[in-house]
Amino acid sequence: MKAVVFHGVGDIRLDDAPEPKIQEPTDAIVRLTASAICGTDLHMVRGTFTGMEPGTILGHEGVGVVEQMGDAVRNLSVGDRVVIPSTIACGSCSYCRAGYYAQCDNANPNGKSAGTAFFGGPKATGPFNGLQAEKARIPFAHVGLVKLPDEVSDDQAILISDIFPTGWFGAELAEIKPGDTVAVFGGGPVGQFAIASAKLMGAGRVLAVDRLPDRLEMAKRQGAEVIDFDREDPVETIKQLTSGIGVDRVIDAVGVDAQHAHSGPAAKQAKQQEQEFEKELQQVAPQQNPQDGNWVPGDAPGQVLMWSIQALAKAGTLSIIGVYPPTMNTFPIGEAMNKNLTLKMGNCNHRKYIPHLVELVRTGVIDPRAILTKVEPLTGAIDAFKAFDKRRPGWIKVELMPQPSAAAAGAGTAIPQRAAAAPQHAGAKPGEAR
Ligand SMILES: NC(=O)c1ccc[n+]([C@@H]2O[C@H](COP(=O)([O-])OP(=O)(O)OC[C@H]3O[C@@H](n4cnc5c(N)ncnc54)[C@H](O)[C@@H]3O)[C@@H](O)[C@H]2O)c1
Ligand SMILES: [Zn+2]
Ligand SMILES: [Zn+2]
Repeated sequence: MKAVVFHGVGDIRLDDAPEPKIQEPTDAIVRLTASAICGTDLHMVRGTFTGMEPGTILGHEGVGVVEQMGDAVRNLSVGDRVVIPSTIACGSCSYCRAGYYAQCDNANPNGKSAGTAFFGGPKATGPFNGLQAEKARIPFAHVGLVKLPDEVSDDQAILISDIFPTGWFGAELAEIKPGDTVAVFGGGPVGQFAIASAKLMGAGRVLAVDRLPDRLEMAKRQGAEVIDFDREDPVETIKQLTSGIGVDRVIDAVGVDAQHAHSGPAAKQAKQQEQEFEKELQQVAPQQNPQDGNWVPGDAPGQVLMWSIQALAKAGTLSIIGVYPPTMNTFPIGEAMNKNLTLKMGNCNHRKYIPHLVELVRTGVIDPRAILTKVEPLTGAIDAFKAFDKRRPGWIKVELMPQPSAAAAGAGTAIPQRAAAAPQHAGAKPGEAR
């Protein structure tokens, strides 16, 4: 079968890989009908999240059809349409039962304290072959697969595999209460869903910070007040827009590949911190392999953490959902401590939120497709990866379609056309909660 395979930092290929087989009675084999590329994949290819084993199939977002099951899977049938939570969890341990699926005691073969198990990640996360493939083995399928109602399309469901739950989780960690003013750093797909979720949770105002016009435009369409950090100092602007107080909540939806300002007033400050950022980068990405402008790590790993602490009002809350590798150990703790801030962070407990989000989409409360901008065949995955990595205009969220015939119809189509062709059941765009 075709699959996107990690060969080394800066080296991913579309290979012929062996088809997965049932290994445990709790496994299922899913034939994927949709996959996607995520900012998390970029960290691994750029080298800012180390420890990938060559030969691992990438990808952790998937929708498909159950093709085969082990004897211990009792709640599904062959032929069921399912969405796959990115993180793998047993469903039985005390952590899973309390909703901390990303801290499951049993899913990670490296042991209880090894951290989150997820598809297509570094050795320390399993490793498990990922979902940018025609088929995948899903461990603990009785909890690791969520059945989809007919009304929820693949284009909608693929966004509920990882990024919508992560945005929702980010908003929940931020402790958003109705009326709060929230800043979201990062207008990538995860940031967009953090904005949508903040609004669904009743945020009074949402400020969105990025530098890319198409992403800021999408944030504005959701009703966010946008800030371009290459034109304005984001911290000063946030203060100005909030009568000098700052924001109640910040969501970091950028992570380790953060960039500093390259022009405008914030670039001056960055110049003074250049050495600090360089040191951080060496620490998180000792091996880099940029090629033709691709796979270039962010140049300021700690930038968003720094801006977030500065932009928060006293006694505010910082929610970190942008990914930082275990090797990253810089954080402005003193400034945070002296402002009585609350810090919350982590890998999303996907399985906890997915059933609820499926229901929000089924009932038309939100149509997540407004965030999906490209649909490409799996066979074109490497070019799609390169365009997404370079953040070419319009390449905000990329779905990959493993079935070549189906993909041909949708390839490269922007969302407005797809939305127009789709059944008119959903009233609201993200952020326009009903
Ligand atoms: N916690 C989780 O479980 C979880 C799950 C999925 C994704 N993630 C993480 O969420 C993050 C975002 O994912 P994505 O798919 O949206 O990625 P992405 O790379 O598409 O988006 C990142 C965005 O951040 C912007 N950015 C860079 N530097 C910035 C700065 N200093 N200030 C503000 N914006 C800045 C970029 O221009 C880009 O638009 C990644 O770190 C990803 O690994 C976490
Ligand atoms: Zn993802
Ligand atoms: Zn568990």
